Amino acid sequence: MQPLSIALGERSYPIYVGRGLLSRGDLLQAHLPRGAVCVVTNVTVAPLYLPVLRQALGGRRLVECVLPDGEQHKSLATLGTVFDALVAGQVHRDGAILALGGGVVGDMAGFAAACYQRGIACAQLPTTLLSQVDSSVGGKTAVNHPGGKNLIGAFHQPCAVYADTDTLATLPDRELRAGLAEVIKYGLLEDAAFFAWLETYAADLTGREPAALEHAIRRSCEIKAAVVAEDERETSGRRALLNLGHTFGHAIETAVHYRGWLHGEAVAVGLLLAADLSARLGMVDADVCERVRALLSRVGLPVAPPAVPPAELWRLMQMDKKVADGRVTLVLLDRLGRAVLRTDVPEAAVMATLGAAGP
Ligand code: NAD
Ligand code: GLY
Repeated sequence: MQPLSIALGERSYPIYVGRGLLSRGDLLQAHLPRGAVCVVTNVTVAPLYLPVLRQALGGRRLVECVLPDGEQHKSLATLGTVFDALVAGQVHRDGAILALGGGVVGDMAGFAAACYQRGIACAQLPTTLLSQVDSSVGGKTAVNHPGGKNLIGAFHQPCAVYADTDTLATLPDRELRAGLAEVIKYGLLEDAAFFAWLETYAADLTGREPAALEHAIRRSCEIKAAVVAEDERETSGRRALLNLGHTFGHAIETAVHYRGWLHGEAVAVGLLLAADLSARLGMVDADVCERVRALLSRVGLPVAPPAVPPAELWRLMQMDKKVADGRVTLVLLDRLGRAVLRTDVPEAAVMATLGAAGP
């Protein structure tokens, strides 16, 4: 199986996308160091996929760390239990962590690997669509702090990523759709032809047709890998383009206190708001907004924000991490398939977009 590759010099690594990867002991062993392996997973994913992984890694000394499920457990306290498992299991510097689960498990396991004994290897085995197309690739790891999401973290690239598309068979529909928001994001920000492909194959994707899912994941990972290779630590502005829709989305998530809305659902509305704002500023035709709205609707994603006053959403957008020198940096479109950073957007234009969106 031919993996994608992310070109980061000595931190380069393969990204495998395909069926049956969790049982491919040969591929898993090929990129792991010699020592003990600690599988970090959660109570939902463990009964589904830990047995096959155990079998594939037969012969290795395995330590298992099964965490509670949920974003509320992405904390320093839970991270402590991962360190406890690593110490009790006598995992040394020649060992590795395998992150088996969605983005919550992946972010925590990756951060544990970044810190434990000043850094050990970590392979990502993402099992949600969102983690297969986004969080498992690129090396951002973190836990939350009561003061904010992902406030404590590190850049720590994995040694390999294995996106086993068979695991998506058990993913709830709503989680699958949330992942599709990030897939649509890649088309919008980088590849108009991919966006058009998504328009054509939307029903196959929601219907979990394996070849369609594999193509969507592979193309998303290719785009993310290329962007991260150019701007690993988000210093040049290139990687910041991956936040298309996220400043609006984070404001929505904060406004509803992270309840009732999945991240991908908030990003979906954010993508449409970013397209609308781009059209108001004369950067794209109104037709682009209509295509975004139609595609999001076809895959069952929301296209209107929750009932929050526009002024409140704007206030929350101004508190977002992407504020520098008092100016909100927005990722907008200057055509379908090309995103740009703008720090000069008038408040009146943002308010017009938020006001017109309505719940
Ligand atoms: P998640 O990890 O909470 O998974 C969603 C739900 O699906 C959970 O209940 C999980 O147990 C369950 N699940 C996972 N795989 C399953 C499967 N195959 N079958 C059935 N159920 C399954 O959520 P997520 O959307 O994967 O990730 C969200 C997290 O990712 C957030 O914490 C976010 O901050 C982070 N994130 C990180 C990055 C990054 O670059 N590091 C990027 C985007 C998001
Ligand atoms: N999810 C955005 C990034 O990895 O930079």
